[in-house]
Amino acid sequence: MKRVAILLSGRGSNFLALSDAIEAGVVPAEIVLVVSNKAEAPGLQHARDRGYKALFIPSKGKEREVFDREVVTELKKARVDVVCLAGFMRLLSSYFVREFPMRILNIHPSLLPAFPGLDAQGQAVAWGAKFSGCTVHFVDEELDHGPIILQQVVPVLDDDDGEALSHRILKEEHKAYVEALRLVCADELQLEGRRLRRRS
Ligand code: GAR
Repeated sequence: MKRVAILLSGRGSNFLALSDAIEAGVVPAEIVLVVSNKAEAPGLQHARDRGYKALFIPSKGKEREVFDREVVTELKKARVDVVCLAGFMRLLSSYFVREFPMRILNIHPSLLPAFPGLDAQGQAVAWGAKFSGCTVHFVDEELDHGPIILQQVVPVLDDDDGEALSHRILKEEHKAYVEALRLVCADELQLEGRRLRRRS
């Protein structure tokens, strides 16, 4: 059983999807800690309602690495194996990434390397992309860049705006993140260069 921590900043729907799957026994893991850098994040309240250990660690006004050191201290205290970023809207410092190499997962609402950064869904609509989707990947020291665990394609419809596309992608995010975390926790992946594939 892997010991998983979730980092979030907002709504927390991906966190809830992961929590549902873990509690149902679909993913061989337990959630040992939830951290939010926003006190008012609905996801933090959901974590408390579900009885998880849930911490608010403020990031505002702090240097990136100062905040990251506080979070890493808590992750180590909780003996965390795998960290899932679930709508955690902050860049991680190199320090943080090096403390958990190939053990931090992120979900991003586009088919990376297309549309990294903020408002990926709005970027896809504005670009005129016909397909977008979501990507679950390991976090490395560059933004939205690490090895890809899983992607899911979603069509962009003619009358989509960013919100409509976000809604369609989000449904796929929940499934993709669960399957990606299962693959990682069940140790079913091997890395070759930056390509991840199923262990044979
Ligand atoms: C999700 O769409 C996730 O892909 C996105 O934030 C949303 C969080 O929703 N993450 C990023 O854009 C990271 N660059 P949630 O709080 O309901 O899980």
